[in-house]
Amino acid sequence: MKELKIFSVVAIFTLILYWGVEPFAHSQMHKHVEGHNFTYDGTADIEEAEAKVAVAKETKTKVAEAEATLAAKKTFWADVKRISKLNGNAANGEGLFAMCAGCHMEGAVNMGGVTPPSLEKAGALYDKNYLIALVKNPAMASNVDHKYADTMMHPMGSVTTMVVDDQSIADVVAFLMEKKKGEMTSKEAFKDACGRCHAMRYAKTTQIGDTPVFKEKKDALAHEIKVLDEQALVKGYMGKLPPDLSMMIRARSAEYMETFVENPQSQLPGTSMPRTGLSHEGYEKVKQYLTEIGDPSKPAREAIGPWVVLFFVVFSVLALLWKKEKWRDHH
Ligand code: HEC
Ligand code: HEC
Repeated sequence: MKELKIFSVVAIFTLILYWGVEPFAHSQMHKHVEGHNFTYDGTADIEEAEAKVAVAKETKTKVAEAEATLAAKKTFWADVKRISKLNGNAANGEGLFAMCAGCHMEGAVNMGGVTPPSLEKAGALYDKNYLIALVKNPAMASNVDHKYADTMMHPMGSVTTMVVDDQSIADVVAFLMEKKKGEMTSKEAFKDACGRCHAMRYAKTTQIGDTPVFKEKKDALAHEIKVLDEQALVKGYMGKLPPDLSMMIRARSAEYMETFVENPQSQLPGTSMPRTGLSHEGYEKVKQYLTEIGDPSKPAREAIGPWVVLFFVVFSVLALLWKKEKWRDHH
């Protein structure tokens, strides 16, 4: 039948566009990056350092520095692996956490450029191996050590002199992993993971939290000044103000978002955005929030999809039957 042939040609081209060309175009816009499913064992970091050694050798510049960085990364991730095998004692870790709580708590204040996350529900957000790496060496763990090559210190750098031996690191991480595992809303996940740097205009939230509704213009302006002050600090720390994320989930492909959050250096080499060390579960929550805010009609659209398809199928069958009926006597 001619109609069926026409219909299948149209359908096939639509499907090729949808599943083939569009994702292909996206993948061409950004280079393909291998994801590691939110495991943090240093593989990506060591590969990066190896690539830099190769470039240094080729251009014969700073070869010794590149080799030293590579060696340091190998030692660092081997240390992390060793510590991750220890049995952490959460009760002991709770005592050690007092040293972290000075900076990390509800209502924390800006420290060296950003307001530290509360860590109230750390177990639901972060990967265990990443936390070990972070307490061992924050700049190295978040893969922004290139920023701290000279005298500048990571704002959390002081922990490396407070929680030093392997067992203490394992203990404090064991305590963190027990904190409210699994009980985090997508909004809380966003706030702790990204909110200290990124605003979400569509959700009326900024680097200092939700923007209240003010009756007096004077109060609204006073709040705005506080936001601008915080943003100036973040900008000073990061080199530029991190972009608003309201629409980012639509602008970037899912694959890009995932690999970028897992390791920002993989997509934007040299960027000042640190790795945030989210577990797979933690990332899913952040992504859910970005989707809810950036694409609020998505659930409705997805729910209506099958009905639209069903309508077209039924309609096509009826149209075909009707046409047959009309043409029957003409043959
Ligand atoms: C001197 C203040 C300070 C102390 C003490 C401190 N931190 Fe932090 N912490 C920070 C700051 C500031 C950040 C945000 C850094 C950034 O975003 O670049 C941070 C970030 C974090 C994060 C989020 C990391 C990420 O990559 O998203 C975790 C988890 C964390 N700290 C755990 C701890 C633990 C555990 C301790 C104690 C062993 C501790 N911190 C002690 C200031 C501190
Ligand atoms: C400590 C600050 C900080 C934190 C925390 C942070 N970011 Fe960023 N982010 C930045 C900065 C700075 C940039 C700009 C990077 C650049 O242009 O080099 C950026 C850029 C981005 C971009 C744009 C990348 C592009 O292709 O232009 C995305 C997407 C993003 N961040 C997502 C996130 C998500 C999701 C989180 C939470 C899981 C997060 N960020 C946490 C500082 C941060």
